[in-house]
Amino acid sequence: MIRVAIIGASGYTGVESIEIILRHPGAELTYLTALESECGHAEDVFGRLKGRCDMQIEPLDFDKLTGLADAALCCLPHKVSMGFVPKLLDAGLKVIDFSADYRLKDISVYEKFYDVKHTDTANLENAVYGLPELFREQIKGADLIANPGCYPTGAILAIAPLLKEGLIETDSIIVNAVTGASGAGKNPSSKFHFPNMNENLFAYGVGSHRHMPEMEQIAGEIAGSKVRILFQPHAGPFDRGILSTVYCQPKEKVASEQLSQLYQNFYAGEAFVQICSNTPAVKDVAGTNYCHIFVTCVKGKIVSFSAIDNLVKGASGQAIQNMNIVFGLEETLGLK
Ligand SMILES: NC(=O)c1ccc[n+]([C@@H]2O[C@H](COP(=O)([O-])OP(=O)(O)OC[C@H]3O[C@@H](n4cnc5c(N)ncnc54)[C@H](OP(=O)(O)O)[C@@H]3O)[C@@H](O)[C@H]2O)c1
Repeated sequence: MIRVAIIGASGYTGVESIEIILRHPGAELTYLTALESECGHAEDVFGRLKGRCDMQIEPLDFDKLTGLADAALCCLPHKVSMGFVPKLLDAGLKVIDFSADYRLKDISVYEKFYDVKHTDTANLENAVYGLPELFREQIKGADLIANPGCYPTGAILAIAPLLKEGLIETDSIIVNAVTGASGAGKNPSSKFHFPNMNENLFAYGVGSHRHMPEMEQIAGEIAGSKVRILFQPHAGPFDRGILSTVYCQPKEKVASEQLSQLYQNFYAGEAFVQICSNTPAVKDVAGTNYCHIFVTCVKGKIVSFSAIDNLVKGASGQAIQNMNIVFGLEETLGLK
């Protein structure tokens, strides 16, 4: 049994991770931590755990943690996370970090977009980007996984086959995506507050969203050359899910059937990527670790659609998929 500590267990991705580990046949929860103000019995903190999780959520004590867990799911906000991760690694744990602190390899880009000095560049160097469908081999031997952002997960899976095969122009990709309210975590800004989200749909982060450089970095690694992406996020009135529509210019004329076949081949054997024959929908993937993709050609452009659950394939599910790979377990354990 893999013994799992959840750091930041009182948040949205924290409780999603608790739920998955509770049904995981090869892992068990041994330590749940949060800020003191949010601690208590897990069933009292989250009514949905009633009768299912007889554990305390308690303030993190590194002495107690050492020897109590093999893996840490670090569900903390960016900037906070890099203060904890080095100590978790020093305590001998494999760490899957949910924040952006270990995703961007160029420190100057991180510091520009997150407006903070990076304080753990040594571990940043060794962190592996945890998108299993693209980087499974590197994930296997890693001590620190940078779990991908939710928007980049949906967008990159939607275009990876095109980038890998060099089929598209890499200076004109447009990602248009809509997220639900849980993408902002448990303490939303006024924009993501219920009265503004309900019966509403709006764009935000125009030209400045922090997931844009992450998409460009990973897309560039897949393509083997610089990639420019215009990313426009939107927020819509639903709890969970991200629908992405990605527009690309093909280098040469290509038929929809060829694209569909390319995607089927590229993702053959992938448990969590399904190539669909029509546009995907967030309700079809809600609560699951699946990514549904539909690719087609419209007026000479390639249009690729993907749907994921931001809290599962976009966060906790993907983290546990990574954990399974790191510990040599069947990748789908706890997730099907
Ligand atoms: N929500 C998503 O869809 C999503 C998707 C992908 C990645 N992520 C990333 O996953 C991480 C967690 O997101 P979330 O949505 O779960 O956020 P959240 O609901 O706001 O939860 C954050 C957790 O971190 C704790 N925390 C905050 N500041 C802390 C501090 N200074 N010291 C110790 N603990 C602290 C919170 O404790 P309290 O309960 O005491 O506030 C809470 O347990 C973030 O880095 C986020 O960017 C989120």
